[in-house]
Amino acid sequence: MSDPMPFASHQNLIYLTGLAGKKPSLPVNLEELESRALEVLSPEAHGYVGGGAGKERTMQANLASFDHWQIMPRMMRDVANRDLSVELLGTKLNSPVMIAPIGVQGIVHADGELATARAAQEMGIPYIVSTASSYTLEQIAQASKEVPRWFQLYWPSDNAVTESLLQRAETAGYRAIVVTLDTRMLAWRERDLQQAFLPFLTGQGLANYFSDPAFRQGLDKPPEEDIQSAVLKWMSLYSDLSHTWDDLKFLRSCTKLPIVLKGILDPQDAKQALDSGVDGIIVSNHGGRQIDGSVAALDCLPEVVEVVADQIPVLFDSGIRRGADAIKALALGAKTVLLGRPAMWGLAIEGQAGVEEVLRRFLADFDLTMALCGCASLEDLSPEMLKTSAN
Ligand SMILES: Cc1cc2nc3c(=O)[nH]c(=O)nc-3n(C[C@H](O)[C@H](O)[C@H](O)COP(=O)(O)O)c2cc1C
Repeated sequence: MSDPMPFASHQNLIYLTGLAGKKPSLPVNLEELESRALEVLSPEAHGYVGGGAGKERTMQANLASFDHWQIMPRMMRDVANRDLSVELLGTKLNSPVMIAPIGVQGIVHADGELATARAAQEMGIPYIVSTASSYTLEQIAQASKEVPRWFQLYWPSDNAVTESLLQRAETAGYRAIVVTLDTRMLAWRERDLQQAFLPFLTGQGLANYFSDPAFRQGLDKPPEEDIQSAVLKWMSLYSDLSHTWDDLKFLRSCTKLPIVLKGILDPQDAKQALDSGVDGIIVSNHGGRQIDGSVAALDCLPEVVEVVADQIPVLFDSGIRRGADAIKALALGAKTVLLGRPAMWGLAIEGQAGVEEVLRRFLADFDLTMALCGCASLEDLSPEMLKTSAN
């Protein structure tokens, strides 16, 4: 028989450790965790990780949107054995939780993405690796050997570089390509502008480009000898503002891996995505980092789910903080949720152990809340268990 409390038991461990007089070193309260993490970061990294576009109204809206929905728990249901597993693009996952792609983790902790990958491996949680990572996708693959990992693509304007990145991801065992649509250029980010800080200009977060044979071929001197020219080259090919839906055919021709589009909010775009034959969608507004005053991602989820009508999986991020948030997004039709900033707070304070602890707590909270709601598996989640605050 499977362990009846696979994730929830972490709560017992915390209380039992307390009997020996030991309190958790990482703050359990997430808002405190965020403050503590931001304190240990440089002012530049603090602004980069903590900030968003403009007045940061979308960031706030993302969090507030979870409060519009309230859970109606059911009693006297058998939740003794819970199964939180889910099948996603042919892979069985232990839980519907994944780690969101976050770039430049080297500014958060020296071990950066390697620490996150090791934590993902330890916890058996899939990790979506950013194009803009501080370590190469091959190094990160080494650090997360068995756990499913996906590669997130910032789609370059240079087809040879695009092709090369996708080939490398395939060779290194990545199982899907996530194409981020909402960041073809960087938004007006007041905190970063105040610090006049863009990590890429010093080569941070460009490991995948600098190690790429097609990228290097376009340089007179390798990045190790002339970083300025390499950065300028990166700026020239980072993205192509003229790409449209039709161009997805090119990506399709470059890889056999499933393609998942990240940053879909409008149901019409969801329909376009379906029509263009992609394998999945991530409803996301990039954690409010791209458009100030945009619609909260959660508020877009029900309509996107309706349009997609189970033809491809719909994933969700932007504002997931606690177990109840995951339950709400899953009940509204998301197949999995992506955890973003909270993992970075753990990374900032305690490196790999910090990410691991954040993931362990998130899963424990999710599992406990599922049980308390009367849900033994993800099939038990549905929109009917949610009430809106207007009701
Ligand atoms: C510091 C930082 C860097 C990010 N880098 C990337 C990235 O490289 N690629 C990407 O697709 N999304 C990136 N994102 C967006 C996340 O994947 C995710 O959409 C977002 O963190 C969700 O919002 P939340 O963390 O507030 O829940 C980044 C987010 C943060 C906070």
